Amino acid sequence: MANPSLLILAGDGIGPEVMDQVKRIIGWFGDKRDLTFDVSEDLVGGAAYDAHGVPLHDDTMAKAQEVDAVLLGAVGGPKYDNLDFSVKPERGLLRLRKEMDLFANLRPAQCFDALADFSSLKKDIVSGLDIMIVRELTSGVYFGEPRGIHIEDNMRVGINTQRYTEAEIERATRAAFDLAMKRNKKVCSMEKANVMESGILWRDVVTEIHADYPEVELSHMYADNGAMQLVRAPKQFDVILTDNLFGDILSDCAAMLTGSLGMLPSASLGLPMANGRPKAMYEPVHGSAPDITGQGKANPIACILSFAMALRYSFDEGAEADRLEAAIEKVLADGARTADLMGPEGGTPLSTTQMGDVILAALD
Ligand code: NAI
Ligand code: MG
Repeated sequence: MANPSLLILAGDGIGPEVMDQVKRIIGWFGDKRDLTFDVSEDLVGGAAYDAHGVPLHDDTMAKAQEVDAVLLGAVGGPKYDNLDFSVKPERGLLRLRKEMDLFANLRPAQCFDALADFSSLKKDIVSGLDIMIVRELTSGVYFGEPRGIHIEDNMRVGINTQRYTEAEIERATRAAFDLAMKRNKKVCSMEKANVMESGILWRDVVTEIHADYPEVELSHMYADNGAMQLVRAPKQFDVILTDNLFGDILSDCAAMLTGSLGMLPSASLGLPMANGRPKAMYEPVHGSAPDITGQGKANPIACILSFAMALRYSFDEGAEADRLEAAIEKVLADGARTADLMGPEGGTPLSTTQMGDVILAALD
């Protein structure tokens, strides 16, 4: 069988710096675990604009549609801030998400014990936390019509519409249940079925689809209560399924339970391709961090954990993903820290490359 294929789009700022460490990790899996990927690389964001005058070349878009998974670093930076909206670096990212139809956004909130002190919550509430928020990404109130601001009775009125078809709810729901089958078989769906018809439909469709996943334990929660429960007792959850708006807020809230931006990975999944794998793009949550670009200070862990998600969710290599995450857990427990993970006690931080070195050593 052909090797699985990866397209690396390192992007701008610290994107290429953190991606260099991911490439070393990918190489390690080929050398030591007989898990070889066909890796190709291309440009996105400002780097693509500099080369082609567009933030994503059509050829790159076509490649992204063909590969098994895309790994993206970060886009943007001050150099591109004054570009016309149509060619801004972010447009490259948005084009990828839109044309690949990546409707399920996966945002884990995973707390490494060694970093539990970074949380704004008490250590025992977050220690060992490992939850996954599945946010519907391509529909809902950010896209529904009618929308706009108009005048009614001499008064300005602002309108946005929460709109979901059952097909849109179904595909996000299946993504969440499929994910749950690879985790702890537990899904909590969050909406506001008490006050929103779209929430009633959401709850009905999720309940119907659940019939196809009898092994998964399903619960429903109103999203406002969900927000309270996330900060009160987050470990009660495994997979949380929710819509675009609630997911935007709940995923940011859950992410901060775990501390640093330099630690947060994400995945965006679409429909299954002919080979059964979902269309997929994996990327750290952070941006291009112009304030530390070129200084060797960037924490590569968010990007490395994004590759771990690719192993688990695109390539069915859950045990190898566990191996990589365990290596990261170990180096953190041993005290390895990039500058963003330094507490008030101080010490000498590791550089981006040194963090890569210790993770590779832990893998060995
Ligand atoms: P940012 O995430 O780039 O940086 C926020 C702060 O976190 C900075 O102080 C940065 O140094 C720090 N930081 C981020 N990642 C880090 C890492 N891996 N290791 C250590 N420290 C890290 O967000 P900001 O400053 O709002 O945006 C900078 C640029 O990135 C902008 O052009 C923005 O449009 C773009 N951006 C791109 C995103 C993407 O590619 N998905 C997401 C967010 C912002
Ligand atoms: Mg947000």
